[in-house]
Amino acid sequence: MVLSVTSIFVTCLYLSTIVVVLGLAASSTAVSRKKAVVGRVSAGPIDISALGCGTWSWGNKLLWDYDPSQDEEIYRAYRAIRDAGVTLFDTADSYGTLDLNGRAEILLGRFERRYLSEERPTSLNTMFDGMGSFFLGNNNNDNKVETIKNRQQVATKFAPYPWRITRGSLLSAARESLTRLEQDKLCIAQLHWSTANYQPFQEGALWEGIADIYDADLCEAVGISNYGPIQLNRFAERMKQRNVPIAIAQVQYSLMTARNNEILDACDDAGCRLISYSPLCLGLLTAKYDLDNLPRPGNPRRQLFRELLPSAQPLLETLKAVAKDVNKTPSQVAINWAICKGTVPIPGARNLVQAEENIGSVGWKLSNAAVIELDVISAGLKKNMIENIFQTR
Ligand SMILES: NC(=O)c1ccc[n+]([C@@H]2O[C@H](COP(=O)([O-])OP(=O)(O)OC[C@H]3O[C@@H](n4cnc5c(N)ncnc54)[C@H](OP(=O)(O)O)[C@@H]3O)[C@@H](O)[C@H]2O)c1
Repeated sequence: MVLSVTSIFVTCLYLSTIVVVLGLAASSTAVSRKKAVVGRVSAGPIDISALGCGTWSWGNKLLWDYDPSQDEEIYRAYRAIRDAGVTLFDTADSYGTLDLNGRAEILLGRFERRYLSEERPTSLNTMFDGMGSFFLGNNNNDNKVETIKNRQQVATKFAPYPWRITRGSLLSAARESLTRLEQDKLCIAQLHWSTANYQPFQEGALWEGIADIYDADLCEAVGISNYGPIQLNRFAERMKQRNVPIAIAQVQYSLMTARNNEILDACDDAGCRLISYSPLCLGLLTAKYDLDNLPRPGNPRRQLFRELLPSAQPLLETLKAVAKDVNKTPSQVAINWAICKGTVPIPGARNLVQAEENIGSVGWKLSNAAVIELDVISAGLKKNMIENIFQTR
């Protein structure tokens, strides 16, 4: 009798301990998630978030004054961006200066693992799902679909370094990126730029190499960057022959760039989505810089903005006026304008405040009249943002 009372007591203690431990584990690790606000759009055979995030600054000292001590703040930005439903992250194997080369990819992998572990402890994942099915008769299919939609989508770019002259060198580059990311498969494998303007013989190997990456099941689709409509058409033809799907093409695209619709039409023909990079013109379209408030001396953006700001004034004034009308900020209007053009913008964010502001650029739409007003003032700019030196026709 004494023994059985003791065993009942021990059993109760044991069970209550499990309940408390599970409760504590769940409450201490569960991070409250805001409802996702960013929608999805098609990009070739896959779908991506309607807003992406650029990672150029995550590791770059020269232009972006990066220092590893900023990683915690960048992670806070990352978490807010992921919570909002952004899954597309643009990066590159060349992002990160000197000894920090590849830093953006390393951070992306690290951040995502941390994000997922905060969402729900991995060890409890299966247990909770199992318990859910057992008690609720729920097979969690909806959750699974949601999880697939919400998985991180890394779109990395391979630099056509002069020594990458064989198709095999691209395959090796993809494996190195995956090692840095600590992942098995990329979402999109991109060519960072075309060599057509200066070393055309390299181009063929790059194209075969990017297709080989797809054939080796190391990516879900491919993409290109800094290609003009003519080169994109040629690339699309070759990918069609190789049966390789193209998801995205990215170019510098903002209110400060000279534009026409040719690249958008070429994307339609190729069945891929145009990604607008530098949608804030490296920060200038946030309207926070002026000639008395420039990036620090020695930062190349200082001289660039000094040259661009005088002629950009009418545009910045219009941006501010439109922003006031719609109760948004100039950054949000500039990003929303790029969305209105049918592109997926990938603004960079270096801290939580910037991330939250950029997320606020979705979930609403500028009126046609506002888009036209911005188009007109942008077309009349005396000085545009300089074109990427590798941009082809
Ligand atoms: N394919 C290519 O060749 C290529 C070239 C360039 C970029 N990209 C991609 O495009 C991404 C975005 O372009 P980008 O980084 O060049 O420039 P961007 O998105 O036009 O501007 C980003 C910069 O603006 C500032 N900023 C961003 N949001 C802000 C906000 N809400 N309020 C105030 N300041 C804000 C930050 O810099 P500060 O705080 O320092 O002002 C930030 O780093 C890159 O990260 C990269 O992934 C691709």
